Amino acid sequence: AKKAVLGPLVGAVDQGTSSTRFLVFNSKTAELLSHHQVEIKQEFPREGWVEQDPKEILQSVYECIEKTCEKLGQLNIDISNIKAIGVSNQRETTVVWDKLTGEPLYNAVVWLDLRTQSTVENLSKRIPGNNNFVKSKTGLPLSTYFSAVKLRWLLDNVRKVQKAVEENRALFGTIDSWLIWSLTGGVNGGVHCTDVTNASRTMLFNIHSLEWDKELCEFFGIPMEILPNVRSSSEIYGLMKISHSLKAGALEGVPISGCLGDQSAALVGQMCFQDGQAKNTYGTGCFLLCNTGHKCVFSEHGLLTTVAYKLGRDKPVYYALEGSVAIAGAVIRWLRDNLGIIKSSEEIEKLAKEVGTSYGCYFVPAFSGLYAPYWEPSARGIICGLTQFTNKCHIAFAALEAVCFQTREILDAMNRDCGIPLSHLQVDGGMTSNKILMQLQADILYIPVVKPSMPETTALGAAMAAGAAEGVGVWSLEPEDLSAVTMERFEPQINAEESEIRYSTWKKAVMKSVGWVT
Ligand code: G3P
Repeated sequence: AKKAVLGPLVGAVDQGTSSTRFLVFNSKTAELLSHHQVEIKQEFPREGWVEQDPKEILQSVYECIEKTCEKLGQLNIDISNIKAIGVSNQRETTVVWDKLTGEPLYNAVVWLDLRTQSTVENLSKRIPGNNNFVKSKTGLPLSTYFSAVKLRWLLDNVRKVQKAVEENRALFGTIDSWLIWSLTGGVNGGVHCTDVTNASRTMLFNIHSLEWDKELCEFFGIPMEILPNVRSSSEIYGLMKISHSLKAGALEGVPISGCLGDQSAALVGQMCFQDGQAKNTYGTGCFLLCNTGHKCVFSEHGLLTTVAYKLGRDKPVYYALEGSVAIAGAVIRWLRDNLGIIKSSEEIEKLAKEVGTSYGCYFVPAFSGLYAPYWEPSARGIICGLTQFTNKCHIAFAALEAVCFQTREILDAMNRDCGIPLSHLQVDGGMTSNKILMQLQADILYIPVVKPSMPETTALGAAMAAGAAEGVGVWSLEPEDLSAVTMERFEPQINAEESEIRYSTWKKAVMKSVGWVT
């Protein structure tokens, strides 16, 4: 059969907390041509611990690449049109592996993991000078969320890690580093690197000088030689070298030239390139990022300062203010896997629709404590306001409302920090296909919610960075390049007063969840 003629294509790996995807876009129109998605297991070996298998993650990437290439073949699209590959990833999740064997030395310690609570408490007593030591350099509060303390835990508790460090065999990385090292050859010359956005989530990276910070590494006791090289988010890091996997091997030699933490990638994919432009992504967690241009803005209201992107070695760095919510999509997975009240995540919409209200039931899913704006590790999940009338549909509705209320909290903080309230909210991510959620979100924020017809904005951002890299040059990052993306708008339908009453009851519920563990 005759192969279809297309412009250059760009692939993107989107390795999230719940699933891995590989997607292929047409660089001329941003049209999504083919993709494949695989769910990732999460292990909870103890209360508050969250781990994943780095090899399963890598395998899932191979599988997604294979299946996507297969689908492209069925569409008569020639795989050799793929000119570059971008990587976006769940951030902070920490892996240490052996550079001689390629074997991970422990499971990946996932960003949601709480095992480092006592490490954080001990470290906070030792902060030199003033309390701002970590925050002023990294933009982050000292928290279990970020990689430095996870790595500290691995160095303190895992003999294999200690031994590999002593013998100069250990490499540390967030998921981007682990994947890029493996995809560029692993033990046979794999490239050990990360980009500025991922580095900015480790608590070891100075977001002003854009380098690993010696003082921070000393404070956390991290040997600097195990850290990856920090590069920009858009440049050629290395070439694909995965010949052992049949179809994926077809991409042998294609440059990996984009790398962004998933929330930064979504900011790029939503074309939020101007100061003051923001997006909210609904994945496992929920992350609202507002571009603050070349300025590092420090929050007075519990938001993080983070590197938004740096699209090229010689290009300027952009920063963002970020409101991070730990549990969004994860609450739906919990209702599916732990309570069994739904069989698939999509069913949540049907249940919620049946009742159209939570009937006074509030669900605070503080499974990993509360992140922004509270940063309250003592919080745990609660469902309150129950009566004999309450049924699973009300709980499903309350779970969706919880995602929206949490977004309202970070939007309020963002508005206070930025001074100019957002006039609408740009959203993306898997959960945005849930229309009830989108309408609820508009009602609870009391501003319009705008979503792109193609929700895979994270992957799109990584593909854009990869396609725009020097030496690739197939994507120009101009807005007209997104002609395949149309927008859907949700207007608030309840009145502001009703919206406020619901929101203040939510806040009451939040207060009940705080201080649950001491
Ligand atoms: O900081 C964690 C974040 O990057 C995870 O994203 O998409 O897996 O919720 P996601």
